[in-house]
Amino acid sequence: MAHDDNHRQHQHQHHHHDHTDIDWNEMAPLLEAQAELFTPLYEHTMAWLAKRQTEPGLIVDAGSGPGVIACLLADTFPGARVVAVDGSEPLLQRARARAERLGVADRFSTLAGELPDVLGDLDYPADLLWAGRSLHHLGDQRAALAAFADRLAPGGTLALQEGGLPARFLPRDIGFGRPGLQARLDALEAEWFAAMRADLPGSVAETEDWPALLTAAGLRPSGTRSFLLDLPAPTTDRARAYVVASLTRIREGVGDHLDADDRAALDRLLDPDDKASVHHRPDVFVLAVQTVYTAVRTK
Ligand SMILES: C[S@@+](CC[C@H](N)C(=O)[O-])C[C@H]1O[C@@H](n2cnc3c(N)ncnc32)[C@H](O)[C@@H]1O
Repeated sequence: MAHDDNHRQHQHQHHHHDHTDIDWNEMAPLLEAQAELFTPLYEHTMAWLAKRQTEPGLIVDAGSGPGVIACLLADTFPGARVVAVDGSEPLLQRARARAERLGVADRFSTLAGELPDVLGDLDYPADLLWAGRSLHHLGDQRAALAAFADRLAPGGTLALQEGGLPARFLPRDIGFGRPGLQARLDALEAEWFAAMRADLPGSVAETEDWPALLTAAGLRPSGTRSFLLDLPAPTTDRARAYVVASLTRIREGVGDHLDADDRAALDRLLDPDDKASVHHRPDVFVLAVQTVYTAVRTK
C-alpha cells in the first residue's frame, strides 16, 4: 500500500511503534500459509455461512489477499461467481493462479483497487460479501461498512470476520524466562495494532461493536459465531513453520519493546540451533479463534 509523505511524518511524530506500514506483498507467503493452515476453521465457517445465504449468485471477497478463502467460497458455493477484491495486484495474481490450480477459474475473477471505493467498479450487487480481517485495515470502518452494505443485493448477506482471540502456540511456562510470554506479546501487539489503525489514512476511532455498526449501515444483524482452530502438539511441520513465521514477525514488529528477559526468551525460541526453540520443541501447538458477524440487507 502506498502512503503519502504527510502520513509518514504523522506516523513518526506520534508513535513509538514505527513500523505500522504493512507491505502486503511481503506478507503474501505468511497470509497464504496461515489461510491454508486455518482451512479446517474456514470449512466450519463456510458450512455455517451456507446455511445463512443459500445459493448466492455473486460472492465478493473484500480484501481477499492471496485468495485461499475466496477459493473456499467458490468451492462451498458451486453455483456462484466469485470476485476477489484487493489493493495488492501481486496478491490477486496468486489468487488467480490458485483458482486456476483448483479448477474454479471459469467463475473466478479479481478486481484491484482501494477499498471501499473500488467496489463501485463491480458490475452487479453481491449476494454474499465476505470481508475477512480486512475491514480493520481501512481508516473509516463505519463508512466502509456502509459502502459494503451499499453493494449488497436485496436479501444479500455481509459476513464480517473480525476479532476472536489471540492465538496460542506454547504452554504458559516454557521452561525458561518468565512464564506468560505470549500474554505479554499480545499486549504489545494490541498497542501496535492501535498505532497501525491511528496511522491509516483517514483513520477514525470507533467503538468496535460490529452488530451495532452493521445496524448503522442499514443491515439487520443475523448471527455471530466464533470458530476454533485446534492443532494440538505434537504438531505438523506446516503448523510449526507457521508458528516460526508468526513469532518471527512479532519479533520484528514489537520485539524491541520487550524487556531484556522476554527478548532473550523470544530469541531463544527462534534460534534454530537451540533444541528448546519452536523449531524443535515437542510442545508447540496452534490454538486460535476467529469470530464472524453476519447481517442481511432487507431492503
Ligand atoms: C490481513 S489481510 C487478510 C487477507 C485475507 N482476507 C485473509 O483473511 O487471509 C488484509 C488484506 O486486505 C488488503 N487491504 C488492506 N488495506 C486495503 C485497502 N485500503 N484497499 C484494498 N485492500 C486492502 C491487503 O492487501 C490484504 O490482502
